[in-house]
Amino acid sequence: MTSIAIPPGMPQYDDVPRYDVEAVRADFPILGREVNGHPMVYLDSANTSQKPRQVLDALREHYERHNGNVSRSVHTVGTEATEAYEGARAKVAAFVNAPSADEVVFTKNSTEAINLVAYAFSNASLGGPAGDPRFRLGPGDEIVISEMEHHSNIVPWQLLCERTGATLRWFPVTDGGRLDESGLEELVNERTRLVSIVHMSNILGTVNATARITERVRQVGALLLLDCSQSVPHLPVDVVELDADFIAFTGHKMCGPSGIGVLWGRGELLAAMPPVFGGGSMIETVSMAGSTYAPPPARFEAGTPPIAEAVALGAAVDYLSGIGMKAIQWHERELTAYALDALKTVPGLRIFGPELPVGRGGTISFALEGVHPHDVGQILDAQGVEVRVGHHCARPVCVRFGVPATTRASFYLYTTTSEVDALVRGLEQVRKVFG
Ligand code: ALA
Repeated sequence: MTSIAIPPGMPQYDDVPRYDVEAVRADFPILGREVNGHPMVYLDSANTSQKPRQVLDALREHYERHNGNVSRSVHTVGTEATEAYEGARAKVAAFVNAPSADEVVFTKNSTEAINLVAYAFSNASLGGPAGDPRFRLGPGDEIVISEMEHHSNIVPWQLLCERTGATLRWFPVTDGGRLDESGLEELVNERTRLVSIVHMSNILGTVNATARITERVRQVGALLLLDCSQSVPHLPVDVVELDADFIAFTGHKMCGPSGIGVLWGRGELLAAMPPVFGGGSMIETVSMAGSTYAPPPARFEAGTPPIAEAVALGAAVDYLSGIGMKAIQWHERELTAYALDALKTVPGLRIFGPELPVGRGGTISFALEGVHPHDVGQILDAQGVEVRVGHHCARPVCVRFGVPATTRASFYLYTTTSEVDALVRGLEQVRKVFG
């Protein structure tokens, strides 16, 4: 890979282990394919990441050799499947430094993880035996989010406010694409019951420093959820260090399969949280008169879970850990520095979000003057360059910056500077087509 000058103000990375990007790329079969007669340049990893052979093999191996249902079979393959499923839980827990594997709840994706917390709040608010006061909401209570959230960290809270009469408030975003914390003291106050903030923005690339917010959340006795869908795949995330109450993330953005996500919750809070989905596996006993519930994580995993997907997520965690999350973060930081510089050479290009590779990840949204993002996306695709165009399920950010949509390039551990060069060449072609 080309060596990149580190801009002033950024730490030097001499102590960070490097890895061989070409060797990593060789693990991803899809990266060898062509699109429209060109080598594929995949710059849409914030949308979904590609999968290494090690993860694909784990999925196949599970179905070929160990397929059985979990937590309910005494036979050999059922026991093997249970061990693999619980083994994956332990791997995921270690990956985010969770104090206990029981704090990891497998869900379908981040969206389901966030909805699970939102519905636990409304179930508790209905009263009854499961109504822990920390989850009870009503008129006068407030939930705080931000203007840079993905829809999955907006809509569940809007729905929860509709159900409970609570009020939704939000942090604004600065012109530079950072969270505007100037109103923190007023926004997060004694009425606040929950703050739910994105750790890394899927559209602006901003990585939010959450320490001040966490401190304020603790002062007012609220709870803190971090949407880590874009951070867990790209940088080391340590739940103890973050001091959050819940984090949500998803497998398919971190080299794992789709259909598996994670809600991590502080053990004591999960234990106090009412169930959301009822069914098999989440109970202690059931009678016709009523039921009692299993302790977490089983309480939140009703029915047959995504077993093979969890096992393959465990393989993804092994794969990422083998390379090292710090090394991946630095790789992407260098790439982002390179890309921000390279994109600035394209006339008429406006970047949304931080323009320096500090406090941001490798997800860059931009507009090309006079060209609709859908046209940009189509012309890039004709050259084999795969980017995402649209509002990226974060429409309030587009509204904030006065655009209907953006074009977004997003990088991962396998992205190279040559691919960034291909993007820039592609954009020059777009400019030619549109005069
Ligand atoms: N898949 C969504 C994105 O592209 C979240 O950012």
